[in-house]
Amino acid sequence: MKSTSIQFLELLHDGFCATDLNGIVLYANPRALELIKLEDYTAITLNFFRDVVKDENLIEEIKSKIAQESSISDIECNLFNRFREYFPVILTANYIRDYDGTPEGYLFLFKEMSAFKEMQVRLVQAQKMESIGLLASGIAHEFNNILSGIMPNAELIKMTTKEKANLARADMIHKASFRAANIVKQLLSFARIHEMDETEALVLNEAVSETLGILDKLFGKEIHLENRIPVDLPAIEANATQLQQVIMNLAINARDALEGSGRIIFSAEVFKNISKDQTLKPGDYIVLKVMDNGHGMTREVMEKIFDPFFTTKEPGKGTGLGLSTVYGIVKSLNGDIRVESEPDKGTRFNVYLPVSHSRLAKKESPDEVTESTSRNVMIIDDDLVVREMAGDLLDFLGHTVVKAETGEEGIELFRTQPSRFDLIIIDLIMPKMNGVTTMERIRAIDEKIKIVITSGVGHTNKKDEMLKKGADAYLQKPYSLDAFRSMFSDLFPE
Ligand SMILES: Nc1ncnc2c1ncn2[C@@H]1O[C@H](COP(=O)(O)OP(=O)(O)OP(=O)(O)O)[C@@H](O)[C@H]1O
Ligand SMILES: [Mg+2]
Repeated sequence: MKSTSIQFLELLHDGFCATDLNGIVLYANPRALELIKLEDYTAITLNFFRDVVKDENLIEEIKSKIAQESSISDIECNLFNRFREYFPVILTANYIRDYDGTPEGYLFLFKEMSAFKEMQVRLVQAQKMESIGLLASGIAHEFNNILSGIMPNAELIKMTTKEKANLARADMIHKASFRAANIVKQLLSFARIHEMDETEALVLNEAVSETLGILDKLFGKEIHLENRIPVDLPAIEANATQLQQVIMNLAINARDALEGSGRIIFSAEVFKNISKDQTLKPGDYIVLKVMDNGHGMTREVMEKIFDPFFTTKEPGKGTGLGLSTVYGIVKSLNGDIRVESEPDKGTRFNVYLPVSHSRLAKKESPDEVTESTSRNVMIIDDDLVVREMAGDLLDFLGHTVVKAETGEEGIELFRTQPSRFDLIIIDLIMPKMNGVTTMERIRAIDEKIKIVITSGVGHTNKKDEMLKKGADAYLQKPYSLDAFRSMFSDLFPE
C-alpha cells in the first residue's frame, strides 16, 4: 500500500518531482508525467535539469540559489516536455536533506500556467484596446468638428455654384471630406461611442447567407464561400447593418488571405459561458466561426490586428480599420472576438454574440422621405461656424432662420415673439447656460414648442437621455442636408 503522502502527491494538480543531487528523477507524480508527456519515468533515465529545465543559465541559477538559501520559490519560467515543447510554469524547489542535514537531492514543484497566461494576455489586450479606444475617440471627436466646417460648405457650393471649375473643386472637397467622415465613423465604431444603433433578434444563418450572396459574385469562382450555420440556432441580439459589417469585414480579410483561391467557411454553435473570464460575461452565446485556409498570421501580427490602422497590406490596399470596426461592434454588443492562426495554416475568427431574449421581428419597409414646407427656426449655438453652417443649410432647405449665441439670448428672442417659431435647435454643451436648461426655460414659456437638441460625437450616447428630458429629437453633428431633411419630415409629418 502507498503511504498517505504519496497518495496525496498523486492527487496534486501541480507537477512534483524528487531527484538526486545530479537531477536524476527518483519520483514524479502523475501531473508531472502528464506535463512532461512521459508515461513511465522509471523506464529511462530522466534528468530534471538536463531534460526538463534545459536552459543552462536557469539550471545554474536554481542550483546556486538553493545552495545559498536552501530553496527557491515562485520562479516564473518555461519547462520542456519530452518533445522539446515548452510550457510556462511557476517553479518552487528545495533540497532534500538526510538526517544530519546533508543535502542529498532536490524537490521540484511546478504549477502549469498556460491557461492563466492566456487569460492574462487577453486581459492586457482588452486594456490596450480600451486605451487605444480613448485615443481614437479623441481624434475622431476633433476631426468631426473640423469636418462640420468642411462638408456642408462643400455641399452648399456644389449646389449653388454654376461655374464648372469650381463645381469640380467643390465636388472633390466633398468627396474627400466624405472619405474622411467615413474613417471617423469607423474610428467611432471602434471606440464604441458612436450612436448605438438599436439591436433586435436576428437569425444568424439568414444574416450570413444574405451577405454571402452579395460577396459570392464579387469574389469569383476560385473562392468557395460556405455557410454551415445550423438554421435552428437561437436568435442573436444585434443590429442587422452592424452584423453585416462584421461578416463582410471577416469575409473580405479571409478572401485577401487566400490570395486567389481557397475556402471560407462560416459555421456556428451555442456556447454557454460559465467562466469568470473578464472579457466575456457569463451567459448564453452563439459563436460564429469564420475559417479560411489562407496564409495565416504570425503571433506578432495577431497581437496587433485589432489596432486601428494596423495593416500588413500594401499602401493603398488596406486602411487597417476593418478589424477595429469589427472589434468595436462586437464589444458594443457585449460579445467578444478571438483569433486562432498560424503562418500557412489558415485562420479562424471566433465571434461570440449574445443570444437574444427578445422576439424575432417582422421586416418593415422603410418610410418614404417627404419634402417639408418652410418653417421658422431658431438655432442656439455658441460656435459661430456651426451656427452659420446650420443657418445656411436651413436656408437652403427653404426655412427662415434666427440665430442666437447663448441660451439667454435665445430665451429672450423667444419670449418677445413665442408664436413666431416652429422649431428651436439647441446645442447641448454651451459655456454659460447649457442646452437642457435653455430647453427647460423655453418650455416654461411655451410647453408645446418643438425643440431639437444637438451635439458633437462625444455625447451621442445622450440621445435617449435628451428624449427623456423632453426634446422632440436629437441631431448629431456634423450636420448634413439629409439629416436636416429627415428631421423636418419626422417633426412635421405632412
Ligand atoms: N483571415 C486573415 N488571414 C490572415 N491575416 C489576416 C486575416 N484577417 C486579418 N488579417 C491581418 O490583419 C490585418 C488587419 O486587418 P484589418 O481588416 O483591420 O485591416 P486591412 O484588411 O489590412 O485593411 P481594411 O480592412 O481597412 O481594408 C490585415 O492587414 C492582415 O494582416
Ligand atoms: Mg480588412
